[in-house]
Amino acid sequence: MKGAFSIALASAITGVFALPSPTENGPITARAAAACSTPVRLSGNPFSGRKIHANAFYASEVSSAAAQMTDSAMASAALKVADVGTFMWLDKRDKIPILEPTLKDIECGEIGAFVIYDLPGRDCAAKASNGELAVGELNIYKSEYIDPIVDIFKKYPNTAVALVIEPDSLPNLVTNIDLQSCKDSASGYRDGVAYALKQLNLPNIAMYIDAGHGGWLGWNDNLKPGAKVLADAYKAAGSPKAVRGVSTNVAGWNAWDMVPGEFADRSDAQWNKAQNEKKYVELFSPQLRSAGMPGQAIVDTGRNAVQGLREEWGHWCNVDGAGFGVRPTTDTGSSLVDAFVWIKPGGESDGTSDSSADRYDSFCGHSDAYKPSPEAGEWHQEYFEMLLRNADPQF
Ligand code: BGC
Repeated sequence: MKGAFSIALASAITGVFALPSPTENGPITARAAAACSTPVRLSGNPFSGRKIHANAFYASEVSSAAAQMTDSAMASAALKVADVGTFMWLDKRDKIPILEPTLKDIECGEIGAFVIYDLPGRDCAAKASNGELAVGELNIYKSEYIDPIVDIFKKYPNTAVALVIEPDSLPNLVTNIDLQSCKDSASGYRDGVAYALKQLNLPNIAMYIDAGHGGWLGWNDNLKPGAKVLADAYKAAGSPKAVRGVSTNVAGWNAWDMVPGEFADRSDAQWNKAQNEKKYVELFSPQLRSAGMPGQAIVDTGRNAVQGLREEWGHWCNVDGAGFGVRPTTDTGSSLVDAFVWIKPGGESDGTSDSSADRYDSFCGHSDAYKPSPEAGEWHQEYFEMLLRNADPQF
């Protein structure tokens, strides 16, 4: 079943590459993607002077979404979303076949963007994104997931790449370590992240280890332990040069610089000075540096256009009323933030609302979560249309 799926997926992707693109640039195949003629050696902000590659996988999801729309103005706005450079999630071994065609499509002047996301016992504090590997399958993670990905990257030294490393994993070890599932996952997370950082340490790659968001590691008591768990993994990997810092707000909803902050009126706000992502980065980055790792950040602004939607800060599933946020840019106004980026591909679900499903998580049943919603990662047409309607800036 799995093999069949992987072949189907690979040929679907090849199909996408051969098909004429609906974008103004003309057919994707005619774009004559030309990588740089010499090896890329990243230093400083990897996004500076480079456009994030708009990958054909997301473009095909978006163009099929647009094709289903009866309102032609909305459909043409939707197609513009396909041009936004968005991270591609390598969320299981069967996705590895889409990596190489994507790398081939990246031009000099662009940077490819991918999420490494397949740790054993994945998503230990929730159910919606539990992955394919069980606790204890670290060897499979290394040999069947990280190693093949590294082999592919090594074939494309002339292409710039940015990676987000394992969203939510290390933050869960700070705040959810009382859960048996997170205790069981802990050593695999630490060793798996360190292995990924060490193996993916290539001159053309910039890595950002995931650091949750202000409502997670931003609490006064979490800042130091959070920085320590990340810095420990970084040091265990041999302090790889390719690590630039952290990603924040991945698949999240927090505003960049809203003042005083969406949850600043709550009684517990006195314990958290990171009431927006800007404050979080300003507080967390020095902690990272004193713990011995680089402290630059990228912040996911893909779905944070609308505030005031969540009942609680920790609500993470398909928040109803959300809109596409600021488009990727290096114009962040903060020397600590390399770029605002779109990490969660807007329109892919965060988790199913079907309470009888194996991966049903009660967060996807809260009254602020959009229902019905499909399984995590699956396309969610109504949600995509909502993000588009509520986009700020508009498309
Ligand atoms: C899912 C992944 C998916 C990613 C991006 C995660 O919540 O678990 O399967 O690739 O979101 O949509």
